[in-house]
Amino acid sequence: MTLDVAIDQDLPEKILAENRRVHALESGLYLQRHPEQTNFFQTNVLRSALDRLDTELGKPQSEILDLGCGTGYLTLPLLARGHRITGVDLSKQMLEVLQQQIPRSAKSRSACIEMGVEAFLETDSKTVNAVVMSALLHHLYDYESTVRKICGKLTSGGCLLIFFEPLKQKIASSLRFKLHTLLARMDESFYKRVMRLKNIPLFAEDYELSDYQRRFGGIDPNRLIEILRSMGMEIIDTQKYCSRRYGLPACFATHLLGTQNTFNLLAKKK
Ligand SMILES: C[S@@+](CC[C@H](N)C(=O)[O-])C[C@H]1O[C@@H](n2cnc3c(N)ncnc32)[C@H](O)[C@@H]1O
Repeated sequence: MTLDVAIDQDLPEKILAENRRVHALESGLYLQRHPEQTNFFQTNVLRSALDRLDTELGKPQSEILDLGCGTGYLTLPLLARGHRITGVDLSKQMLEVLQQQIPRSAKSRSACIEMGVEAFLETDSKTVNAVVMSALLHHLYDYESTVRKICGKLTSGGCLLIFFEPLKQKIASSLRFKLHTLLARMDESFYKRVMRLKNIPLFAEDYELSDYQRRFGGIDPNRLIEILRSMGMEIIDTQKYCSRRYGLPACFATHLLGTQNTFNLLAKKK
């Protein structure tokens, strides 16, 4: 009993430490190692999510926070759209890669803060027009309280975009799930061969605690919606789809098999 309590107390710090360590390894080749974020299918999903965000924001120079910004997957296209972005990430190495990619013309509209989002939300009191995050929530020990605090950072009419999170949901059809698993195996085995050919090391065995919410099957969008509504947010859009390393299997799984493993959510403060 005493031991359980001791382990629990250390867990949040261990998760942060492992996230720092694995993302230091990932940094330089992060997006090459994660083609599921850059294939044609996902690129279209990203473009339409940012178009929708722009429509809801309704003004070109919005003040936006990108939490867990990494190497700039959301920061860079949002800067290209004319917004002012502050990226927050606990990985110095991921932020260094991002900083090298920010065009000189956009430097004055960007800032990078090396900090855990939990500590950032405790100490930063500024409000913003939007908070965006891609593939962050599943890395957090307590994503629910983080989401509640994020709602407090938004101005009235401000938007929250939660993007590219692993979807937690019940299996609806065991046959479709078997086909989904088969496709996933083929996609993954092709991916491993490509990475070997390109000499890009993979760090699967280094991820033990850092993808913490995957241990519980991912993030349940229904729970998120409940939390967001209780914080005075209106749900504008949710999108569920199947992410795969490559665009064709992602298209096939989403549109023909109808299986889903990833979601995005856009909400707005009333
Ligand atoms: C899966 S990567 C996604 C990066 C980027 N948002 C993207 O979509 O390409 C997760 C990022 O979150 C950062 N991260 C993980 N836990 C964090 C925390 N508690 N506070 C701040 N950043 C965190 C990692 O350093 C990493 O850059």
